[in-house]
Amino acid sequence: MKKLLLVFLFAIAPLATFAAEEGPKLDHVNIDLNDKPSLQRGARIFVNYCLSCHSASYMRYNRMGHDLGISDELVKENLLFAADKVGDLMKAVMPEEDAKDWFGVAPPDLSDEARYRGPEWIYTYMRSFYRDPKAVSGWNNLVFPHVAMPFVLYDWQGEQRPVYKTVKTVDHIEIGGKMVNKETNSEVFDHFELAKPGTMSPQDYDKAMRDLTNFMVYLAEPAKLVRYRIGAYVLIFLVVFLVFAYLLKKEYWKDVH
Ligand code: HEC
Repeated sequence: MKKLLLVFLFAIAPLATFAAEEGPKLDHVNIDLNDKPSLQRGARIFVNYCLSCHSASYMRYNRMGHDLGISDELVKENLLFAADKVGDLMKAVMPEEDAKDWFGVAPPDLSDEARYRGPEWIYTYMRSFYRDPKAVSGWNNLVFPHVAMPFVLYDWQGEQRPVYKTVKTVDHIEIGGKMVNKETNSEVFDHFELAKPGTMSPQDYDKAMRDLTNFMVYLAEPAKLVRYRIGAYVLIFLVVFLVFAYLLKKEYWKDVH
């Protein structure tokens, strides 16, 4: 029994360390891969504002168009800024070496980002840029401190300023053989305030970031949409099959009773 308990404790140990990892609170985002209009709006933002630096090099334009219900003609007219042909892979406009020279780090490929960081992280990251005069790009980020990415959606969101609150912690320490309470004040992030409004209201900006995150979740696992479709056909087939199976059962048992 003791051994079993030990095995159990070892098994859950990684969970405990994971839970202990402190970081800023991530905001919930409602991901819905069946919401085609949201995915289409997200694709538009991604192609217009992110592909200049980041690639999504596992994805082809026409595959994306096909999955999201956008015709090749519409893809050509509205989404093909960084490539010539609809069959091309979604590669960044900026050559990687140049980007590395400018930003110090190459912007990573975002094909798998939603699986690597999770949708909540991306959604919070895109809404957590704030002005920081000390940063090289002039921007810092709450969930990615000292990020090298300039805040490219600044026009939309405007300029945020972090508001901190003072938190008092009391430590029990020993001085000269006596236990005393030592109080320390620390500043922790509380919320953002909008120092300069952007062209979008905060609600509309959140909605746009939800669409973008939704699209990036699709990007990380495009086959999910195909699985959903096949899943629906399988369920329809099972319902139809049930009717026939029931009729067949009735036919077989008719003579028994
Ligand atoms: C001007 C170039 C540029 C543009 C445009 C840009 N990024 Fe970035 N991005 C960067 C760079 C550089 C980094 C690497 C930051 C670092 O490692 O410090 C980065 C990092 C990121 C990361 C974090 C990657 C990680 O390490 O997990 C995400 C997510 C991201 N970008 C999303 C976006 C999205 C979404 C857009 C479009 C709205 C966008 N970026 C537009 C340059 C850019």
